[in-house]
Formats: sequence, C-alpha cells, structure tokens
Amino acid sequence: MSFPKGFLWGGAIAAHQAEGAYLEDGKGVATCDVMHGGKGRVAEMSDMKAIRANIENPQGYFPERVAVDFYHRYKEDIALFAEMGFKVFRTSISWARIFPNGDDAQPNEKGLAFYDSLFDECLKRGIEPLVTMSHWEMSINLTKKYNGWASRELIPLFERYAKTIFARYKDKVKRWLTFNEINMSFHMPSLGVGALIDDPAQKEAMTLRACHNQLVASALAVKACHEMIPGAKIGCMVAAMTTYPYTCRPEDVWEKTLMERRNYALTDVQAQGKYPAWFDRYVEKQNIDIGKTADDERILREHTVDFVSFSYYCTNAVSTDPAVTDKSQGNVFGGVQNPYLKSSEWGWQIDPLGLRITLSFLYDRYQKPLFIVENGLGAKDTVEADGSVNDDYRIEYLREHIKAMKAAIEEDGVDLMGYTAWGCVDIISASTGEMSKRYGFIYVDKDDEGNGTLNRSRKKSFFWYKDVIASNGEKL
Ligand code: BG6
Repeated sequence: MSFPKGFLWGGAIAAHQAEGAYLEDGKGVATCDVMHGGKGRVAEMSDMKAIRANIENPQGYFPERVAVDFYHRYKEDIALFAEMGFKVFRTSISWARIFPNGDDAQPNEKGLAFYDSLFDECLKRGIEPLVTMSHWEMSINLTKKYNGWASRELIPLFERYAKTIFARYKDKVKRWLTFNEINMSFHMPSLGVGALIDDPAQKEAMTLRACHNQLVASALAVKACHEMIPGAKIGCMVAAMTTYPYTCRPEDVWEKTLMERRNYALTDVQAQGKYPAWFDRYVEKQNIDIGKTADDERILREHTVDFVSFSYYCTNAVSTDPAVTDKSQGNVFGGVQNPYLKSSEWGWQIDPLGLRITLSFLYDRYQKPLFIVENGLGAKDTVEADGSVNDDYRIEYLREHIKAMKAAIEEDGVDLMGYTAWGCVDIISASTGEMSKRYGFIYVDKDDEGNGTLNRSRKKSFFWYKDVIASNGEKL
C-alpha cells in the first residue's frame, strides 16, 4: 500500500527555460530564442505580426537566452537535487543544440557532449534522467524553411534526431518522453508546432495537420526507442486539463465532454493507436485534410507508448450560460471561475482532489502506467533578511496534491510510476516569461528584467521535500 518501493520522486525542468547559453557550443537559434520575448507573452504568442518581427529583427529582452544559466551551473543544481534525495530528474534535450538548423547532415558534437556530461553527473549522484525529446523548442530554421510541423518534412528530420540521441545516450537514459504537452498546440501552435499561421481561418486545419505530423514522428520515435534501447520505456505527455461543468445542466455537461475529448484526442492516438471516432467524423465534416496515409495509420497503430505522462496544475470549469461571465486563468487557457476553489496569484484554480479525479480518469481510459511529470505552484517568493525563503504556501499546495496521489494509489489502484515537481530549481515561466513566477525548492537570484547574481539557495520547501522523499511520501 501507499507509495510503492522504487517510486520515482524528483523534479522537472525544460532546456529552454533553464539552460541559457543560447548560442554557445554551436547551438542554433531556436524558436524560443526569438519568438517568445518579454513579459505577458501569452498574447504575444498568438500575434503573428509580433512573432514575424521578432524573427526578422529581435528587439528587447528574451529571457530564455540566459535563463538561469543551467548550462554552466548544472553540477551545482544536480548536487542540490541529490541532497533532496531525487531519484529522477526530468529535463529536455534542446533539438537545436544537436541539430542547429534542424536539417543539418551531421549532429553538433559539442551539443551531444553537453548532455553526456549532464546525464553522467545525474547518474554519478544516483539520479535517473527522464528525457523529453521536444519541449517547445526547435531550430528557427525549421519554422522559416518548412513552417515547422505544418510540413511533413519534419517527420524524417525528427526521426533522425531521435535515432541520434537514442544511439548516443542508450546506456544512460532508459525513460523518454516524446513531445511535451502535445495538446497545447491547439491553443498555441507557434509554441507547440513552430508554425506561423497568418490566416485565422486556416488555424484549425493547419494545426491539426501539424499535430498529425507530430503524432507520426512520435510513433516513429517509439519504434526506434524500442529497437535501439532494449528495456527502455517511452511515454507521451499531455497537459491534463480536467474540466468541470459549471452546473448539472446537460448543455454544460456536454460542453465539458467536448472540451475533454478534444484535450485527449492526441493522447488517444499515442496510447491507443488510432484517432477517436468523433475526430474522424469531425475532420470529415469540416472538410479538413490532415494528410493521413494508410502507412501513417499502420505506424500509429503499431507503435503506441509504454506509459502516459502528464502535467497537472489546476482544473477548469465551463458554462454555456452567457450570464456566467467570471473568467478564470489556467495553464495557457482558462474557463469560468469555479466558486469552490481558490486561485494562485496567476489565477490558476487550485484543486488537489482534481488530481485524484484526473489520475482515476486517465488510468481508466488508458490502462497504462501513469507518470506525473509536472505539478507545482507558481508563486512570488520573498527573500528574508537572513536569506531564507519561507514558502509555506508552496509546501501546502504540494502536500495536498501528494495526498491526492496517495489516495489514487491506495484506494483507486492507479499504477503511478513517479512524480517530478515542476521547476524544481526556479526557471523562466513558459507562458509569461517572468522569473518572479517561481516553482522551485531552490531559489535563483534573478528578477524579471534579468538582473541578479544567479546564485542558488535552499527554500523552506527544499527541506520539506527532502523529508517527503526520505519517508517515501509518509512524512508530509
Ligand atoms: C507547462 C509547461 O505547461 O506548464 C512548462 O510544460 C511550463 O514548460 C509549466 O513552465 C508552467 O507554466 P508557466 O507558464 O507557469 O511557466
């Protein structure tokens, strides 16, 4: 009962939000280096004019270019993760470090060598790397030349990247994730599929085509992983946005059904090997050609994932009543205010029971092991005169969510492999570009304008999480 022996406790980050060193050792300019500048960038990410201007002539502050300098400080950070007792550390490989232009004939040896050292450092300290192959980042050349995943040409390019990193790290990395939050592309195609869509009328068709191309690439990566790394496990990754109907009015419940089935459509393909029936009908009725071939269908069917990983921060509520106007924020997209829940400083509605609901729902749906690879509270921290950060609010959030995981394992029989808390060391926020939206157990001295020493220090939650891991989730 309770957390199984060998439960994978740890933390997670993404290359582009942490590494910095954006042109070092031959790395190519990546989408995140030019597309997503400054604060308040959720709006900017859907503004094609702003993105095009940034690509041609980047102006202003681009926080990912330096980020928290993980590229040079990873040894110090991994030592701190080891001090907390991490069993696993999730990060992503920057595709643009390995293939600077995305379509280069040869990989960049210096980029490959960096991840060799990073993974060696983890293993030296008893921490298993869990690697995301693509976390909202790729060479900007792929956007300029092919319009990102809107083109099928990216499928073989990604397959080559996948085979390159599997061959190189096969003795060091045994657990992989293909695309981060694959469903987010529905909301933010520039971020998710690196495609610029100028005509709003084309947005849905182009996004669905691009997502289809990613799904085929994901299945080919699963195939290559299984063939090249015996015993390795490879999973998909979805932003789990559990949605509640605002009332029990059937129209509200139907709206919830529509939201959720769309949210999981791509994961259905990755885990079950085919598109859901409603999806086929939908694209047919909308006259959308996603470019699916008979060969694609076979690839998708034959190469499903070994486990389903997801991020969970909050839940969403939907209403069909125009009088319900109080909006809530959420992970990239929101809904209406749920009056039963409190919100974070960024308006994300905090819902620990929602995590148990999500675990139960996903396990029933897919019947595959689950992995929570992101969860946490983005909050402003205050550094006291003595240097301490007393982040009791973060401890409270994490404690309640871990209790929900425990109930899902003990009482609902969910097969949960592990838990990696998001932004275990403070990093740049993906949606806002802020540094002050912090998730970490480790504080990084840097502000929203990029000032600061980048020095690391332990927050109160650092010591709390250390005890949680040491007691395998018993001491909360
Ligand atoms: C997830 C992403 O959507 O949420 C991460 O995979 C992101 O990259 C995380 O950082 C938290 O979101 P934010 O916008 O607070 O950084």
